[in-house]
Amino acid sequence: MPPEDPSRGPEDKAPRSRWPWPLSWFLALPTDSTLRTMITAVGLCFVCSIFVSAAAVSLRPIQESNQRLDKQRNILQVAGLMREDASIEELFQSIEARAVDLRTGRFTDAVDPASFDQTIAARDPALSTALADAADLAGIGRRAHYATVYLVRDDAGAVRKVILPVHGYGLWSTLYGFLALQPDGNTIIGLQFYDHAETPGLGGEVDNPKWRAQWQGKKLFDAEGALQVAVAKGDTSANPYAVDALSGATLTSRGVQNLLRYWVSADGFGPFLSNLSQELTTHG
Ligand SMILES: Cc1cc2nc3c(=O)[nH]c(=O)nc-3n(C[C@H](O)[C@H](O)[C@H](O)COP(=O)(O)O)c2cc1C
Repeated sequence: MPPEDPSRGPEDKAPRSRWPWPLSWFLALPTDSTLRTMITAVGLCFVCSIFVSAAAVSLRPIQESNQRLDKQRNILQVAGLMREDASIEELFQSIEARAVDLRTGRFTDAVDPASFDQTIAARDPALSTALADAADLAGIGRRAHYATVYLVRDDAGAVRKVILPVHGYGLWSTLYGFLALQPDGNTIIGLQFYDHAETPGLGGEVDNPKWRAQWQGKKLFDAEGALQVAVAKGDTSANPYAVDALSGATLTSRGVQNLLRYWVSADGFGPFLSNLSQELTTHG
């Protein structure tokens, strides 16, 4: 047996860790020490954040594709074209997307209607207009210069339905949806929201098919061209311009009325609706 080296102190006699530094140093800390607890918590957060970020990045294309499909499904539904025996992509091929310049009310090629994002454009001062409080019925602050509208044609190629994107503030959230109109630019075919955060059972009843069905056949403007569309309390079945307000959700109902009135007004699609028959004849 070799003689003991007298130069080795007691700490040198501790068993050597098989882990490299700094893991060996960390493992050597007492299990109940504050430092070890904090390092464990920070380390755990770091590892979890890597997993969450990786999941968010890798799932983004799937999320975007699902969002696009959901929007298309809503456009098909509001146009009354949704069928169970065909895929959304197949059905959506019959719908034509066109860009409209809201300042002139004319179709435009200035932006690609398939990829143009009104919400992103509305944040860019170069691509949008700030709305004065008096004009901002929908509570949206800014309005993009352009919007994508959707046209549904019959077999002979004539436009039968025009679908406009609309959005505006309810009680808790901005409601995003589509308004489908007949080519007269006045008769409503449907109104449907695809995104909002109103309370389920109260403002969330905007999604109730029975409530949505009331919009069919209602008019936006009277014979003199005055804007009349409304969401009103009481029985509105005989009123050509109004649907019943949602019970217990007066504020969401008012928001829906306001956003509709805004988007068909002169600051929204008003100029486009006035030009509609001419636009469809010459550029449709
Ligand atoms: C938890 C909670 C959620 C509510 N959610 C909504 C809503 O989504 N939309 C709405 O208009 N009112 C909502 N309200 C009710 C409004 O505060 C308000 O009372 C209501 O709009 C008045 O409608 P009424 O005159 O039909 O009763 C909610 C109230 C509570 C307490």
